[in-house]
Amino acid sequence: MKEKLRQIREQALADIAASEGLARLNEVRVAVLGKKGDLTAVLKGMKNVSPEERPLVGQMVNETRAAIEAALEEKKQQMEAFLLEKKLKEENIDVTLPAQKNRVGHSHPNTIVLDELERIFVGMGYEVVEGPEVEYDYYNFEALNIPANHPAKDEQDTFYVGNDILLRTQTSSVQIRIMEEGRLPIRMIAPGRVFRADEVDATHSPTFHQVEGLVVDKNITFADLKGTLEAFAHEFFGPDTKVKFRPHHFPFTEPSAELDVSCFKCGGKGCRFCKGEGWIEILGCGMVHPHVLEMSHIDPKEYTGFAFGVGLERITLLKYEIDDMRLLYENDDRFLRQF
Ligand code: DAH
Repeated sequence: MKEKLRQIREQALADIAASEGLARLNEVRVAVLGKKGDLTAVLKGMKNVSPEERPLVGQMVNETRAAIEAALEEKKQQMEAFLLEKKLKEENIDVTLPAQKNRVGHSHPNTIVLDELERIFVGMGYEVVEGPEVEYDYYNFEALNIPANHPAKDEQDTFYVGNDILLRTQTSSVQIRIMEEGRLPIRMIAPGRVFRADEVDATHSPTFHQVEGLVVDKNITFADLKGTLEAFAHEFFGPDTKVKFRPHHFPFTEPSAELDVSCFKCGGKGCRFCKGEGWIEILGCGMVHPHVLEMSHIDPKEYTGFAFGVGLERITLLKYEIDDMRLLYENDDRFLRQF
C-alpha cells in the first residue's frame, strides 16, 4: 500500500511537471483525484485494510493528496502568470494614437423645432395634447364647418379608410375633441401627423406634421390672437421680426387670417430667400367660428376663442434654410448629421 501510494505520487508529480497548458493539467487532476482516479481507487480499497493500520494508511493517503494538490496549484499559477506575461507583451497599447470617436445620435430637425415650439407655448400656459391620426369625417370636416359637398373638402385630397373614417388631413380635428370634453377655459397646442393624397415634391408630402393651437375663454379677442402669435414669432424667429396679418378664409374661423413674418434673412428688404417679397407666410389663424363653438356645445355668447395651425416642416425648412422637404424624410445620415 505504501509503495502504491509512492508510485501514484511520483507519477502524478512527473505528469504535472510535464503538463503543457491548463487543459492537460486538468486531465492529470482527473486521472489522479477524479471519481475514477488512482488515488480515489486506493481510498475505495481502504475497507480491505486492517483496522489497526487504517489510521496510518489514511494519513498517508491524505499526505499524498495534499502533495499532489499543492503541485497542481503551483503549476496552475505558473501557467497563468506565463499567459498573463505573454498577453501583456503582445498587447502593447500606443496611448498616443487618436481615439476612435463614438458618434452620438441626436434629435431630428423636425423634433428640434417641435420642442422649441412646445417650449414657447408651454411657457405661455398652454397644454400639449394629442388626437388620433385615423379620424372620423365628423371631427376632420363636419364639426369644423365643412359639411358634405363643401368645396373646402375638395381642396384636401383625402385618404379614406371607410365611408366616414379617414386619415386626418389637419390637426384642427383635435380642437373639436378638446372642446367636446367641456372643460373650459382651453389653452392647448396639438402637434401631430396629417395625411393628404399629394404627390411628393420639394414642398409636398403625403404625410407631414402640423401644430394646432386653440384658446377658448371669456373675452378672448383678435387682439389676443395677434399678441400671442407676435410673441411666438419674436421668440422663434428673433426679436426684430415684424408680423403682418393678411385676411384669408378658413371655414372654421371668422374672421380668418394668414400670418406673415418679415424675412429673417434680409430683414424685410427682399431677397432670394423671401422671393423678393420681404415677407414669409407662416401659418393660418382666426377667431373660432361661433357655429363651431355651438356644435361643440360651447355658448358663443359667453365664450370666444382663437385658433391657429402651422406646418411643422414648413417652419423647420425656413429655420434651417433647407430648400427641399424630401431631405427631412430620406434619413440620409450626411444630411441629418448637420443639426
Ligand atoms: N387646418 C388648416 C390647414 O390645414 C390650418 C389652420 C388654419 C388651422 C386656420 C387653424 C386655423 O386652426 O385657425 O390648412
